[in-house]
Amino acid sequence: MGDKQRFTSSRKLDHLRICAEEPVESGDTGFSDIRFVHNALPECDMGKVSLATRFLDHAVSSPLFISAMTGGHPGTKDVNARLARAAERFGIGMGVGSQRAALENPKLADTFAVVRDEAPHAFLAANIGAVQLRDHGTAWAEKAVEMIEADALAVHLNFLQEAIQPEGDHNATGCLAAIETLCKEFKTPVIIKETGCGISAATARQCWGAGASAIDTGGWGGTSWAAVEAVRAAESARNEDKALQSLGKDFAGWGIPTVVSLAEVVATGGPVIASGGVRSGLDIARGLAFGAALCGMALPLLKPAMESDEALARTIGAIHRELAVAMFLTGSARIADLRKAPVYLTGRTRQMFDKDNPAQVRRSP
Ligand code: FNR
Repeated sequence: MGDKQRFTSSRKLDHLRICAEEPVESGDTGFSDIRFVHNALPECDMGKVSLATRFLDHAVSSPLFISAMTGGHPGTKDVNARLARAAERFGIGMGVGSQRAALENPKLADTFAVVRDEAPHAFLAANIGAVQLRDHGTAWAEKAVEMIEADALAVHLNFLQEAIQPEGDHNATGCLAAIETLCKEFKTPVIIKETGCGISAATARQCWGAGASAIDTGGWGGTSWAAVEAVRAAESARNEDKALQSLGKDFAGWGIPTVVSLAEVVATGGPVIASGGVRSGLDIARGLAFGAALCGMALPLLKPAMESDEALARTIGAIHRELAVAMFLTGSARIADLRKAPVYLTGRTRQMFDKDNPAQVRRSP
């Protein structure tokens, strides 16, 4: 294995450890600004509430999606296996982490392939970065999909992280064209996803225009890659890396809050996965009421997935129970009913949506 490959791989373990042990969440998603109108006479049997829904022509048992997290180092295989067993057991969708390490070094492919072994029926999303797509073309995308027999390919956008990583790629030119070429050449559906800074209406229009099949908001308010990279910089022995620590801290506040991103993207098309700081079944209910097809969670599932199958099953069970209670108390027997449930909108999220006083301003030239 070359130095570059070893580095891509060992970074994967750093990320798991830092996310599991350090405070890496930053910001405010806006979910707490969404309040359901309580239905005191719901005329609905909580025992018969159905969480089942569909995404990209696949049936799933619930709108919870396990967001892309890991693979690419031998030490990550067990975590991926556990997440996949949970996906299979609960009938939910799952994404794997960036497959770059295994595309650079095929010996690591089993740390991803284990996911299909453990979840033969689950909806699975492969994952590569937009920069890797631009530099290696559709061939890498095909290999990533084959590696896990994926049902979709997620192309992640992470330019904040790239800007702060010492080894980051600082040139984003040509990525939209690469996505467009991919969508033309590829039969597998392509999901464009952010990783914690959100997607605006303008970027969403570019993605749909390029042929994306779905968009995952990856909004601000949950795991912050600026915060993760700030921790890595602080741990580094190299002085030039340490300088990146304050850059990471300053930019932990950068991004479009998840709920604002969700509303902006939904206004341009669909289907949309709401993710970034989704922390409960109630947040999932709120995301669905705002037009999400699925809601993705990464960090809240990481710790239990590092612990045991039982811990992960308990966490997912609690999330589903909370979603079912929110459905019951809004009189929603099905997910389609929840999507129509009335909500109040308050606080900063309401301010950002105020049409008479738009938060997004253009300064005159
Ligand atoms: C991630 N995320 C991520 N996303 C991606 O597209 N490719 C990747 O390789 C990774 N790797 C990764 C590792 C770990 C440990 C975490 C916690 C997250 C980002 C993830 O899919 C999601 O977009 C964000 O983490 C926001 O969701 P949460 O964590 O706030 O629920």
